[in-house]
Amino acid sequence: MEIKEVVREKYGQAALRVHSGGSSCCGAASAMDGCCDPITSNLYDSAQTGAVPEEAVLASLGCGNPTALAELKEGETVLDLGSGGGIDVLLSAKRVGPTGKAYGLDMTDEMLALARENQRKAGVGNVEFLKGEIEHIPLPDNSVDVIISNCVINLSADKDRVLGEAFRVLKPGGRFAVSDVVTRGEVPEEVRQNMLMWVGCIAGALRDEQYVAKLATAGFEGIDIEPTRVYNIEEARTFLSGQGVDVDAIAPQVEGKFMSAFIRATKPAGMPK
Ligand SMILES: C[S@@+](CC[C@H](N)C(=O)[O-])C[C@H]1O[C@@H](n2cnc3c(N)ncnc32)[C@H](O)[C@@H]1O
Repeated sequence: MEIKEVVREKYGQAALRVHSGGSSCCGAASAMDGCCDPITSNLYDSAQTGAVPEEAVLASLGCGNPTALAELKEGETVLDLGSGGGIDVLLSAKRVGPTGKAYGLDMTDEMLALARENQRKAGVGNVEFLKGEIEHIPLPDNSVDVIISNCVINLSADKDRVLGEAFRVLKPGGRFAVSDVVTRGEVPEEVRQNMLMWVGCIAGALRDEQYVAKLATAGFEGIDIEPTRVYNIEEARTFLSGQGVDVDAIAPQVEGKFMSAFIRATKPAGMPK
């Protein structure tokens, strides 16, 4: 509960900063290095940023671009877990067209208000922002074709529950297509904590093999994890030095081990409804 409250407060403030014309950035990296931190910057191409309101772009706090990597078809129903200012929902709504539907789910009132305002500015009708928690998705069983999410599952203290809920609401054959922070290989616990603080993961990122195991336990098949950005110790140097960390000493334990990745999996098509 405590983690959830910290997350809610942090993202509530981020949403308000967009409203007041400031930067929405709230990761440790952006606080130290200015807004253009290596995690959230330059995720979308100009065709995508030009297609949504500026405030949706300013509020973007993801670590990947699931809408670019997910296969979305006309008429499909998409659900974005932790939709924030709504950028991925609005982009998905365009991809599934007027016969499809894009839902955003977020627990933070300020983010929902921002997302709904962005929907109004974008003038899209096939979008609905729902208030709720990704651990308790307020949609029926077997009702969604594609689940997307952008840097949110790492924030949850109950990832098994999130993946179980994603499986429940997906239709048989439905796709899980998510960007998230993952770690790879052995990392000493203290180094791990420092790096994840830099990335802004409050509850903690999963190791890639843990992610695969948890998705399999939830019932998914065809699981694949594709790194999209591997973080470099130099990108975290200013932040970590400020925390009193001896960056040169830990560098060999960090290289190639912290990354954003695109995670895909499928709910078996033969599942009974
Ligand atoms: C890192 S931001 C990402 C927002 C958006 N996906 C994007 O790419 O800009 C995390 C968002 O997830 C929401 N969130 C975090 N944990 C959540 C939970 N357990 N249930 C629902 N929403 C959650 C926060 O309120 C915030 O809007």
